[in-house]
Amino acid sequence: MNITPTRITVIGTGYLGATHAACMAELGFEVIGLDIDPVKIATLNAGTVPFYEPGLNELVGRHVESGQLRFTTDSAEAARFGQVHFIGVGTPQQPGRLAADMSYVEAAIDNMAPHLSDGDIVVGKSTVPVGTAARMQHRLNARLPAGARVDLVWNPEFLREGFAVEDTLRPDRIVLGTSNQRSIAILKHVYAQPIAQGSALLVTDRQTAELVKTAANAFLATKISFINAMAELCEAADADVADLADAIGHDARIGRRFLNAGVGFGGGCLPKDIRAFRARAGELGLEDTLSFLTDIDRINTRRRQRVIDLAEQALGGRVSGRRVAVLGLAFKPDSDDLRDSPALDVARQLHRRGADVRAYDPMATEMAAIRHPGLDYRYSLTDAIRAAELVLVLTEWNEFVRMDPVAMGELADQAIIIDARNCLDADAWKQAGWNYAGLGRQHPVYEDPQLVHVPDTIAELTGDLELVEK
Ligand SMILES: NC(=O)c1ccc[n+]([C@@H]2O[C@H](COP(=O)([O-])OP(=O)(O)OC[C@H]3O[C@@H](n4cnc5c(N)ncnc54)[C@H](O)[C@@H]3O)[C@@H](O)[C@H]2O)c1
Repeated sequence: MNITPTRITVIGTGYLGATHAACMAELGFEVIGLDIDPVKIATLNAGTVPFYEPGLNELVGRHVESGQLRFTTDSAEAARFGQVHFIGVGTPQQPGRLAADMSYVEAAIDNMAPHLSDGDIVVGKSTVPVGTAARMQHRLNARLPAGARVDLVWNPEFLREGFAVEDTLRPDRIVLGTSNQRSIAILKHVYAQPIAQGSALLVTDRQTAELVKTAANAFLATKISFINAMAELCEAADADVADLADAIGHDARIGRRFLNAGVGFGGGCLPKDIRAFRARAGELGLEDTLSFLTDIDRINTRRRQRVIDLAEQALGGRVSGRRVAVLGLAFKPDSDDLRDSPALDVARQLHRRGADVRAYDPMATEMAAIRHPGLDYRYSLTDAIRAAELVLVLTEWNEFVRMDPVAMGELADQAIIIDARNCLDADAWKQAGWNYAGLGRQHPVYEDPQLVHVPDTIAELTGDLELVEK
């Protein structure tokens, strides 16, 4: 192969891989996406995306129709087709452990290697513990056809669900972890368009590239948990975390983004990535170096409990038998991803406590109903709110942000709302007669204020809670 490949393989066609495959087709390459899930492959080959990501369905449909993009479960076919092979398989948390499960990456390498050609390059995009690329290069070399040489590059992915197409076509930075000049030239060709449009290109060694991704996620998680720790303090001191965030966010060194206090982070990346990062540091003999991430995790999961406490308080101490409208199930808006979703977690915990939970999400209701039957799922906002005794906003979808508090007040039985994302106009809701509570903001007075749980000592705030492992 010269350095201008035209055919690309993407291994793993989930949130990352399906988006990457469609965007590579959009950039003008012929693309095959490979997955082990035949149902996913059939859906994608029909030109449909089996999850919700704005703009992606249209992109996949268009390129499948033109023949530039297709999908297969056949590793040999995919390996022979592509010249550049991106790996985007999952790296979930191992059950009962903090570390990442690397078996999918290993299987992807093992299945592809015997069918690769001399001069192909393999490009890891999955989020992996530092040192993985070097290990995978050995694994690859041991399985290649005789005489073939294939370089393995690490090129971490930074896309945000909800903006995945835009982030893939116009990433803020492209990080290439390799010292192989030919691989760099090939990937500069692959990413020529985003680079020409201003995406920064950073070339480094493989281990630094791997660390860039986990460090970025650890930093983002820390920023969110920092403001949520401030929310705990604000609750104890009767202060307002939203005003606090606005004020400290004006300092350019701090910045306002990712400083929204609420029910915390979730999804298929941040929670498992900070746990895996900590585990990897431990393996490297640096047990203490990232021990702060345990606190970051604890602060994050405590916010879920805080919402449940507030819900109990709002309903006079017990949620059992009470009608609770849960607005939002996905871990963030503009996504139907339910992985480690704080919203779903809160909904299920309330259900376990006997609440009559009526849950609605603009995109994730169907998926939640399949994966977690038992809750009373509603398929419209009004259906969820009708006759509710308490409304919880758990995901900041625009549909919820734009709700009319007066109209909603006519539907609900009791005008009590907990805005667990601090995304509503608190004054408008209060003026419309709602008893409004945000997180980290002055808490409202419910009928029985003794039930309000306000952490009152620093020891309680930093208490040695068990880390929730998922
Ligand atoms: N989702 C995101 O926003 C995002 C962003 C950046 C990085 N990442 C990272 O990308 C990786 C993938 O994440 P995701 O969210 O797309 O996960 P996902 O679970 O949606 O997709 C993974 C896909 O890989 C497939 N797969 C597993 N083993 C395979 C194999 N041997 N061969 C072919 N396919 C295989 C699965 O069937 C699945 O479709 C993870 O490491 C994640 O941390 C994800």
